[in-house]
Order: sequence, then C-alpha cells, then structure tokens
Amino acid sequence: MNEIATKINDIFKKDFTSTQHLYYSPGRINFIGEHIDYNDGFVMPAAINKGMYYAIALNKTDFINFHSVDFDEKLTVGIRDIKKMTGWKNYVLGVVNEFLLLNKEVKGFDCVFGGDIADGAGISSSAAVEGGLAFGINELFNFGLDRKELALLCQRAEHNFPGVMCGIMDQYANMFGKKDHVILLDCRKIEHQYFPLKLDGYEIVLINTKVHHSLASSEYNKRRKECEEGLEILKKEKGIESFRDIKTSDELVPFKQKMGEKVYDRCKFVVEEIIRTQAAAILLQQNNLIEFGKKMYDAHEGLSKLYEVSCKELDFLVEQASANKDVIGARMMGGGFGGCTINIIKKECVVEFLSNATVAYQKRFQIDPEVIKVEVGEGTNEIRM
Ligand code: GLA
Repeated sequence: MNEIATKINDIFKKDFTSTQHLYYSPGRINFIGEHIDYNDGFVMPAAINKGMYYAIALNKTDFINFHSVDFDEKLTVGIRDIKKMTGWKNYVLGVVNEFLLLNKEVKGFDCVFGGDIADGAGISSSAAVEGGLAFGINELFNFGLDRKELALLCQRAEHNFPGVMCGIMDQYANMFGKKDHVILLDCRKIEHQYFPLKLDGYEIVLINTKVHHSLASSEYNKRRKECEEGLEILKKEKGIESFRDIKTSDELVPFKQKMGEKVYDRCKFVVEEIIRTQAAAILLQQNNLIEFGKKMYDAHEGLSKLYEVSCKELDFLVEQASANKDVIGARMMGGGFGGCTINIIKKECVVEFLSNATVAYQKRFQIDPEVIKVEVGEGTNEIRM
C-alpha cells in the first residue's frame, strides 16, 4: 500500500468502527481527440498513476457518512434524502443517486476518500471521485454492474448532479485503464482497443497552468449545444447521422451561412479532430512519435482558434513548447479554459525545457506552474490489504 492509501485507511479507522475495503481510482491523460467524445469521435486517453483512494464499509444504518480528506469536510445524509448540493458533495451524491435510479437497494455506509490528483487541472479528478465510489458501491452491495455500465453510470451522475454534460472519455478511461497502454475509444460504438505505449527516448510531462477559469463548465455545455445545432442542420440538409459520416471539413462549406460563423467553426474543428485522431492512432501504433507530435500541435491550434476552449496561459505554454525542437508535441488537454498542457519531450532535454518554460511562464503571468510527471497506470480497482 502506498502512503496515501495508508493515510486514507488510517483516517477511516479513526472515524469509524466498521471494517473497510480500499479502492484506487485514477485520473487520466488524453493523447489526442479532444471535445469529440460527445461528438461520436475517437479519443486516446490513458489512466494515470494519480487518483483517488477510497475506504468504504457498510454500517447497518440508513445513513451515509462521507469524509473528504482533501477538503477536510464531512457529510452525513439519509439514503432517502439524497439531493443536489454543491462542490465535492455533488460528485459523490450524484453517484449514489444513479444507483437509486436503477432501483438498486443502497444501504448505509461509511466512506473516507482523498487523493493526489489536483482539482481543476484537467486530469479528471471528477471521474476519479465518481469511479472509485461507483466501483466500491457496486462491489460492496453485489450489484453486478460491469465496467462499461459503471462508466456510463458515472457519466450520468456528472450530467445530473454537477450538471456538466460531459462525454464518456474520462469515466471510460477511469474504468478501463491498463498499465503502459493507450485506449483507443470509439465513442460512437462505445468500444475500445488497447495498444502499448512505447515512448523510447521521450517522456510525457504535464504542465499545470494553475488557472481554472470559472466559465469552464458553462462554456463546455455551450460547445456541446453548438455542435448539436450544427449537426441538426447537417442531418436535415445532408442526410447524415453523425459527424463521423463526413470525410473532410470541405463538405461543411455549403452550410456555413446557415450555421453562422461560430457553429461552423465548431463543426469544422470536430470534423478535423475526428480525422486527425484516426490518423494519429495509426502513427502512434507505428511508433512514429515525430509525426504524432505534429498532430498534437495541430489539435491545439484547432482547440484554440476554432473551438475556442483554450486560454492565454495554455497558449503561452504551447508556444514555449513549439519553439523548442525537443518538444515534439504539445497541446492543451481536457475540457480547457485552464488546467494542463500535455507535452512529449526528448528525455535528455526535459530538465532544460521545463526550467526555461516555467521561468518564462512565471515572468509572464506571475504564477508558478506545476510540473506533473505521470505514468500510464491501471484503471479503478480494489487494493487488497
Ligand atoms: C472533459 C469531459 C470529457 C471530454 C473532455 C474534452 O474532460 O469530461 O468528456 O469531453 O473534457 O475532450
């Protein structure tokens, strides 16, 4: 057991007398395929070795006792009184609510959780919170849901309580992560394949801008609506079912006027990112990291200019990366409006690049960025004590 797991376990023993089970639930990175999980695209996430740890036990009452170690807050709630609240509470209560909506007989339990994954960094601490609890409840009550059903349950939890109309990528990566493997997820079919990640001579490094612009979730939902609006027009006028049925963004040009500038730009990005991700998946499987990295830079350009989900802090870090030939790929990662960039850097140049980029960032924004080194790890599971 690592240090955090031990800490969570010890706090549980101080708080409660019941006998607990321990679970680990990871965050994720995404190599490419951003904002297209809810647009029937392909995405390439992987679970990471950072996440949330849960200690949970049944308590033979009708009450659930939560203790969030990271927020240093507790919550006790009756099973029949589950309703929307705010902050972290919405994420855990949202999960319980979804089990109840499936008519699963949830009973009282005690739960302590916390982790080593930064909130608002774009590495999906929310999916880690949801996934660990959903997995634990499913095991403890023997509800028999499989991993795909759990991922979909967590996605619904996020829609219904925090109200972020997210796609399936984060919750899927959380459940299906595999050490040293990338997940190529087809979000139309909700099916995946794995392939080994070979980074010979290169390293993945995340740089956290440490900003999290408050419009992140409202703009996220707005992008989703804009895409739906564009797709409606394409369905009517072009007879297609999905953005996947479009082979090149040129096919969108005749509908530009009808869509309006913004919706057109969003759809152009979506179509291009879907095509780009399929090409990138082939490059990564061929171990052609150099060409793969170029696709990451292209993706950033689209996310920043057409989809408008970047921000000046993310753009600055990607500019720093692209000006350095040893950073073969970089882009913003996740929902955007802050959070991290993902960078693929030549191993022997990592230290120098990070020191230059972080100093420049500090100078420009008076914020110390955080360097996060991650490894690709396993999905949610029980930790045997
Ligand atoms: C957030 C959402 C995901 C996905 C990404 C952007 O992380 O939870 O479903 O849409 O943003 O790719």
